[in-house]
Amino acid sequence: MMYDKNTQRRLFDLSKKLLQNENIPGREEGQEESLHLHEIIRYHEWRYYILNDPVISDYEYDHLFKRLEAIEAAYPDLIMPDSPTQRVSADLTSEFPSVPHLTPMLSLANSYNAEDLKDFDESLKRVLDLPEDRELPYVVEPKFDGGTIALVYENDMLVRGATRGNGKEGEEMTANAKAMRTIPLKAEFSKFDVKKVELRGEVLMRKDDFTKVNKVREKEGKSVFANPRNAATGGLRMKDPKEIEKRKLEAFVYQLGYAVNEGGRDMLPKFKTHHDSIEVLGNLGFKVPKDGYERKRCKNIAEVADFCLKWQEYREEYPYEIDGMVVKLDDLALQEEAGYTSHHPRWAIAFKFKAKQATTRLLDVEYQVGKIGSITPVAKLEPVQLAGVTVSSVSLHNEDFITSKDLRLGDTVLVERAGDVIPYIVKAMEDLRDGTETPITFPKHCPINEAEKVPLSRVEGEAAWRCSDCTCGAQQTQQMIFHVSKSGMDIDGFGKSYIERFVEQGWLKSLADIYRLDYSAIAELEGFGKRSAENLKRAIDKAKQNPIKMVLKSLAIHHLGNRASEILAGEISHVLELRNWDEEKFTDIKDIGPILAKNVQAYFSVEKNIALLEEMESLGVNMTQTEADKKDEPITDGALSGKSILFTGTLTQMSRSEAKKMALGAGAKVSSSVSSKLDILVVGEKAGSKLKKAQELGTVDILTEEAFLQLVNGG
Ligand code: IVH
Repeated sequence: MMYDKNTQRRLFDLSKKLLQNENIPGREEGQEESLHLHEIIRYHEWRYYILNDPVISDYEYDHLFKRLEAIEAAYPDLIMPDSPTQRVSADLTSEFPSVPHLTPMLSLANSYNAEDLKDFDESLKRVLDLPEDRELPYVVEPKFDGGTIALVYENDMLVRGATRGNGKEGEEMTANAKAMRTIPLKAEFSKFDVKKVELRGEVLMRKDDFTKVNKVREKEGKSVFANPRNAATGGLRMKDPKEIEKRKLEAFVYQLGYAVNEGGRDMLPKFKTHHDSIEVLGNLGFKVPKDGYERKRCKNIAEVADFCLKWQEYREEYPYEIDGMVVKLDDLALQEEAGYTSHHPRWAIAFKFKAKQATTRLLDVEYQVGKIGSITPVAKLEPVQLAGVTVSSVSLHNEDFITSKDLRLGDTVLVERAGDVIPYIVKAMEDLRDGTETPITFPKHCPINEAEKVPLSRVEGEAAWRCSDCTCGAQQTQQMIFHVSKSGMDIDGFGKSYIERFVEQGWLKSLADIYRLDYSAIAELEGFGKRSAENLKRAIDKAKQNPIKMVLKSLAIHHLGNRASEILAGEISHVLELRNWDEEKFTDIKDIGPILAKNVQAYFSVEKNIALLEEMESLGVNMTQTEADKKDEPITDGALSGKSILFTGTLTQMSRSEAKKMALGAGAKVSSSVSSKLDILVVGEKAGSKLKKAQELGTVDILTEEAFLQLVNGG
């Protein structure tokens, strides 16, 4: 290890401290800070490039790098020859022979929002001496997050493949390049009078292949890959080209970097625009970003910003990992004129998506009691920005999660938030431990009511510890919150904060109390008044008439969800009939499994629960089967009976919920994913990966919206 633990800890803390700095300091302070920045940037580059395991986000790294650039710009005499700003890229540490690239492989400058893009466009026009109001066309394509490669073709044959290396020299890996089916061994550049070319691209592993390959590796007892990028960059450096096939690596080509003819003349200008050059490469058999899908020619920077922001949303659905978009000036002559800095081309910029990962400190663990008594540990974190929101607490799920990740109080942890997924802890950064971290001991007694020492128990086969004999009321409070919520009795305007206030007042101890609230007392509460008390009364009275499928579900019986409640409701005429059922009678019903049967049977065999239901009934809550509870017979004579259907893309003829209703009305089952079981896929505008998958399967009927409408309307 090049850095010992204490040094790593110091550099990490220093990084987080310097990230807070904003204004440009005085010269003396600037000198001190720039030396610190040298040290920490070098450290983060080592973590990123050598270990493939960064401890700060790309965003934070860029921030530190920019800060150093800004200080150096203010005090140019502080620029040292070994400053990280003075070189192209990281060190080479390899066993492969190194080869010089035909032109240097530079980095890209970064932007993070529409404003940054506008600044880029304006400064480019200044460099090109063009009027401010002139619109510059750009091409936008994904910023692939894999391993960069350079491919050289001579006399139409692939003669060399190399990694990016330090930008000037890369590692030669021709055998690995030849093993990739997406890289043609022969391509007819001679048609364009081109003798020698160098192409740039990215080697990637599809996200779904990543999951599959990891499963296989796990079975074979091999270590699993942390992410598709590691699998790709690692694969490129393997001595055995068969590994390329095993890892299912693919290459996208996104740049024609160098092209000369027989006499050594530069042939690049021949292609006129970046768009044209990529089209040519596509026609020669390379895998290139597809025009109109992941690549777009934009007429001005506003269109560029729209496309980038759209892709920020679409990112998760795309089959490959990307960390942003790359914006390139389309006109090659103008590119040439704009030129390069030592670090990046002036004619291109990366639009970086908001970081999905960040590191922060795990400060404390709190425990929450759920509606069925499960104890959920929740990590309290030093607040950190993640994909645009501040995260300060994340669920740790259960004891096994904590043990399997060996999380400790005081740890620096890597937190991730991908798409709409709730944030979670990926791992603890072990190298940053300094010995002061302490183990997390899962409580053995109810953590809310510590004095009473109510023991927790763990049901075999389940991960959760549970408090099965709640005396403190924490569990009942959660049950009531669930009972009134949208997923329960759906009592309009009644939510968590009301429940908590009424519990505090001593008005609510059990579910039945909800139906005997004293509305005149509520009207007197601060912030309520007569009107809101009346509204609440109206909502509760209405809920009393709910069908019994809602009543059943809102009792918070473990595993009893929407569907099972509906099925059960269809079988009985009164809720209390269930007290006479044994487990077998439950499991006799199709779709009711043994675990659920056991839970429901157990609930109805507890006298306290029966008393509660009787009390609720006496307070006016409906316990008798209604029309809404009656079992829906499946439509067997509809146009789509027995078929499974899925909608994808933007529907223009109807809303999604209308479409689903129509499909259900015609007897279809609406699916959520494309698989061999899917019969019909209806595609709206801009359909993406689902359409592609269905096409690949070849067994799915692909319909336009019009065709679907005709089908269901009997046209
Ligand atoms: S163009 C001179 N286009 O991003 C042009 N780069 O900092 C420079 N990358 O590691 C590169 N997708 O491998 C370009 N569509 C794309 C890209 C892309 C990913 C990577 C590239 C390099 C980094 C550039």
